Amino acid sequence: MMNGLNWKRYLLWFANEHTHFRINEIESLRSLFGIQMKWVEKNHHEPFCIVDIPTEEDVLKIASRSVSLRSCIELWACGAKLGDLHNNLKLLPVEQLASYFKPELSFKIKVETFCKSQTQEEKVAKIESFSYLPLCGPVKLKNPDIKLELIEYYGLDSNNIPDEPYQVFFGRWVADGQRDLISKLSLKTRKFIGNTSMDPQLSLLMANQAKVKEGDLILDPFVGTGSLLVAAAQFGGYVLGTDIDYLMLHGKTRPTRIQQKKQREKDESVRTNMKQYGIENRYLDVLVADSSLPLWHSAMRLDAIITDPPYGIREATERIGSTKDYQIEEKHLANHIPSKIEYGLQQIFFDLLKLAVEHLKPQGRLVCWIPVVRNDYCESKLPSHPCLQLVANSEQQLTIFTSRRLLTYEKICEHETHLPPNVDLSTAEFRAKFFRYGEEVRKHRKQQKELAMNLSKATVTEKDKMYEDKSGRYRSS
Ligand SMILES: C[S@@+](CC[C@H](N)C(=O)[O-])C[C@H]1O[C@@H](n2cnc3c(N)ncnc32)[C@H](O)[C@@H]1O
Repeated sequence: MMNGLNWKRYLLWFANEHTHFRINEIESLRSLFGIQMKWVEKNHHEPFCIVDIPTEEDVLKIASRSVSLRSCIELWACGAKLGDLHNNLKLLPVEQLASYFKPELSFKIKVETFCKSQTQEEKVAKIESFSYLPLCGPVKLKNPDIKLELIEYYGLDSNNIPDEPYQVFFGRWVADGQRDLISKLSLKTRKFIGNTSMDPQLSLLMANQAKVKEGDLILDPFVGTGSLLVAAAQFGGYVLGTDIDYLMLHGKTRPTRIQQKKQREKDESVRTNMKQYGIENRYLDVLVADSSLPLWHSAMRLDAIITDPPYGIREATERIGSTKDYQIEEKHLANHIPSKIEYGLQQIFFDLLKLAVEHLKPQGRLVCWIPVVRNDYCESKLPSHPCLQLVANSEQQLTIFTSRRLLTYEKICEHETHLPPNVDLSTAEFRAKFFRYGEEVRKHRKQQKELAMNLSKATVTEKDKMYEDKSGRYRSS
């Protein structure tokens, strides 16, 4: 008992994907639900963490939202070897587990291995090694009352699997995370997608970083096909978006799927996607608008802004403007299609942070991706503003020299909203560097290939100069 609460120890067992995002996701959910939590073992690389949490209700809340989490287990014992685990389990006070050892409660023990497969006989032998537990209810393999799990961790290197696991854990399964949502929202089966549609796992992670909750108002100012809105609406947010691309928002761009013919189907739109997932009631709308131009009423307040701005690599970064100085006559205004000019990353982040500062509610969050050249990256050079605190920053590597970082800012004050955001010049240089480094890598690879080919040619020529003797051996002539 700590602080009058019955704290228990839990194993958070993660999927081995997007490793940089897990702890930030759990921290955001902890903050969203106001959960007290102590990190006992905080692993950034291994697929598990150990935490102390006061109530099981809190654990269920985290599991009801986390997409990084595979499952959560009330940890009864762990050890470096199975023998240590058994010794530790036997030391546990019986009264602590008595409520699970009742004749009317069915149970099952499951063995899970990470990075190693095991035969059924091996698993059964391990299950039988727990026979000293006073489990007196019937065994039930489907939907038992109590699910116990033995998890064996054999490391991350599938080319170098040890005979014995590095760590073993045993406890009572409490809940699974929301991994099923990833397949439910899969882009493969989604009606309307584009070249830069965000994959569902990352979209859901972003919605969790933004702490989206029932009834929140969420904006994506670079909405594209609305993948981020789908995730935010899935967690109860009312969503709206803007994009400069009229054809995209009207489902008239070239189809992305190869099997599609020249045209998209008539009903492809962000709204159709919302309908597909039964969350249309959360969809406010999308507008064709340029994010560089202030659009919103000064009193408009948002709970979160979630966005993936254009990097200028796979899509154009444009804003309305002209390099020429001219005035459109009044009579032409109605049918005038404005010209566009380059919208650099430095300006994009300046406008995005300004939007966040002016329109987020206190404690509201801006969650956005920023592309970086890995060698140049330095956290102090990230876009900043005195009203915004960077609360999380996770990396997703894209190539050997580039990555994008998911930044989570929280609005911490209202007094200095008039100050301009600070966006380092290096942000503007990403696109040029991306293509320059890309070119260098391509040249290097070409040189390596040519070298390898020349070498193999040289070997063949050497062989040509040789003759085969009677025994079939090659000899120099
Ligand atoms: C990386 S994509 C966003 C993709 C989106 N998250 C999705 O899942 O489809 C960036 C989007 O920004 C839009 N964009 C580019 N310049 C813009 C501007 N000045 N104002 C608003 N949107 C703009 C592009 O049309 C593109 O759809």
